[in-house]
Amino acid sequence: MAESLGGVFFERLVQWQRRHGRHGLPWQQTRDPYRVWLSEVMLQQTQVVTVLGYYERFLQAFPDVQALAQAHQDEVLALWSGLGYYSRARNLLRCAQEVCGTHGGEFPRSSAELATLPGIGPSTAAAIAAFCFGERSSILDANVQRVLSRVLGFGEDLSGVRAVRALWQRANALIPGDAGPDAMSAYTQGLMDLGATICAPRQPACAACPMQDICVAAGQGTQLVYPVRSSKLKRSAENWWMLVLHSPQGIWLQRRPLQGIWAGLHCVPLFADESALQQAVAGSAARLQHLPAFKHVLTHKDLYLHPVVLELQGNVVAEPAPAVPFAGLEGRWIADWETVGLPAPLRKWLKAQQEATAPGTRELWD
Ligand code: ADE
Ligand code: SF4
Repeated sequence: MAESLGGVFFERLVQWQRRHGRHGLPWQQTRDPYRVWLSEVMLQQTQVVTVLGYYERFLQAFPDVQALAQAHQDEVLALWSGLGYYSRARNLLRCAQEVCGTHGGEFPRSSAELATLPGIGPSTAAAIAAFCFGERSSILDANVQRVLSRVLGFGEDLSGVRAVRALWQRANALIPGDAGPDAMSAYTQGLMDLGATICAPRQPACAACPMQDICVAAGQGTQLVYPVRSSKLKRSAENWWMLVLHSPQGIWLQRRPLQGIWAGLHCVPLFADESALQQAVAGSAARLQHLPAFKHVLTHKDLYLHPVVLELQGNVVAEPAPAVPFAGLEGRWIADWETVGLPAPLRKWLKAQQEATAPGTRELWD
């Protein structure tokens, strides 16, 4: 693309964002890097409507990076509970600690330095630097890769790092040398907004796009060819059995290991197959209640979760259930599971169970 077309792309996107882009989101009303960083991390894998509530609650609990740096990981995970991708929450805390520990409580101002912090990838770093400090660096998340590969007709295979690096150079070359901070904010938001609302993966709305007449893919009718990615992620499926133990003391929860899925969260005991679960509750197998399995979609696989419920009571109704109901079963009774960090699918399922069995509701409304 000719150099001048770069200027055209930039100017048009800024104008389009100001007229048609998203405005008034809470993190757009500030240049405080703490707030912008928090919103960008939340928005990495979660939609705006969901993020809004979490963002407000998080800022109420931790109004600045110092407050967050002093938090306990459990508090952070509890506030994150339901957003998924919990490594984000753990990195959030580590990042706050590093900002306070080695940067004097101030976020660094360049994307290069921001990208060295935990949980801040190069695209998020560019977004923070552009929004807060007016840095002339392009973001390049998956949505923007799609937009720019189409506009530029960039056909290299983006599953390789070299191609991504090459596209990033082209992206940075689209930004004029004299672009000011306000234009950089609008431009960065415009890239996100165009990818989210117009240049959709399957049905791009080219007729409504400000780039239609300069877009290589639209000109050729090859929109769906881009972005080129040879190694599509292969999805796999897994089945897990969940042991849901209830007693008058609450529900039996274990701490997940600090590595792997749902790391550090509380969870009911999980088993790779049904017989392993039955062994764990040896002697009580006859009282197990098998409920319908449900599906939970992760980035690389589909999880099929099979709930198996067991109600435990003391020998006498007033007597508590044993502190360890089955030999070798790790965990403890937790009465107020709503206040601890749980995997989102488990929380949803428990809530649905609770509502389905709430006294009165069925009788009254069915
Ligand atoms: N997704 C990632 N960053 C965003 C932002 N600042 N606004 C809306 N959606 C986004
Ligand atoms: Fe995407 Fe179509 Fe716009 Fe090109 S013209 S950027 S393909 S929406």
